Amino acid sequence: MTFRLCYLLAAWICILFIPGLSEGGKLLVVPMDGSHWLSMKQLVLKLKERGHEVVVLIPEVSWQMGKGQSYTVKTYPVDYTLEDLDNSFEEFLSVHLSGQPFPLNALALYNISKHTFRIFFVQCKNLFSSTEIMQYLNQSGFDALLTDPIALCGATVANYLSIPYVFFMRGFPCNLHYEASKCPSPLSYVPRLFTFNSDNMTFFQRVENALIALLELVYCNAFYTDGLKFSSEILQREVSLVDMLNGASIWLLRYDFVFEYVRPVMPNMVFIGGVNCAQSKPLSKIYRTKVSEIVNDMGKMCEE
Ligand SMILES: *[C@@H]1O[C@H](CO)[C@@H](O)[C@H](O)[C@H]1NC(C)=O
Ligand SMILES: *[C@@H]1O[C@H](CO)[C@@H](O)[C@H](O)[C@H]1NC(C)=O
Ligand SMILES: *[C@@H]1O[C@H](CO)[C@@H](O)[C@H](O)[C@H]1NC(C)=O
Repeated sequence: MTFRLCYLLAAWICILFIPGLSEGGKLLVVPMDGSHWLSMKQLVLKLKERGHEVVVLIPEVSWQMGKGQSYTVKTYPVDYTLEDLDNSFEEFLSVHLSGQPFPLNALALYNISKHTFRIFFVQCKNLFSSTEIMQYLNQSGFDALLTDPIALCGATVANYLSIPYVFFMRGFPCNLHYEASKCPSPLSYVPRLFTFNSDNMTFFQRVENALIALLELVYCNAFYTDGLKFSSEILQREVSLVDMLNGASIWLLRYDFVFEYVRPVMPNMVFIGGVNCAQSKPLSKIYRTKVSEIVNDMGKMCEE
């Protein structure tokens, strides 16, 4: 299953390197820490195995993104410690598990996500302030960039270097991945995040869905304010969230149909299936609560 998935992914990435298929391409990877990286790493290893030159940009402080095996790793210094990172994740997790009713849960999640994301925006600033790395990137002539788009840093780097970029992702808040690429997403049938509705909604659920959709614009623009301000400074032009997302050449969507609803997507969006099943390990004791139950269930679904 893992092998098949990676094979498919690698095939898609290879398309980018035509006509360089035989000699291999030069790929820059701007990953996201945590579970995001666990899935992406499988793809990166496979691409390396297939003869592409792969360079992964990694902050000096991170959870999982240690030294590479076969691929090249470039690290850059950051202004936060591992303790800062751990604390922000603990807070993030505790809000998710607090079980508050709607709309308190949405407000609390918004607040904590904004707080947690500040670290990732700082990380991106740190990357751009490393003259050594920036010079290296400038001179390396990468063919393409692969990134998890959630923190926008990869898209900013790709725009800065003027190279095509590929998203490898699970999802965005605010329906952004469909909104940005103008996929039809009718309010009567596509339930918004936090409503917990299905695609078969009653009249009042549709009203609720419509109200939430109105708030989403405000919500996500506020969420990404700091990140976008920084991207605009770097690129020396005013960029919007939609600009940054729309620039992607291919979207590899790590979705599983069991969590999704039927809807049309753009031709450059590819469903590659699977949540983070490539590597499974027992959770550490502190998280063996609700989270481990959820993860176990997801693991079972992956195996089936
Ligand atoms: C928002 O999050 C911060 C950081 O965790 C916290 O200090 C603050 O109390 C939160 N505010 C609200 C209104 O929940
Ligand atoms: C990158 O290269 C361009 C010219 O090729 C130069 O103008 C620019 O200053 C360089 N940037 C960095 C960060 O080295
Ligand atoms: C939608 O839900 C209603 C009420 O629960 C039910 O009668 C109807 O069959 C459902 N429609 C579909 C397409 O599932």
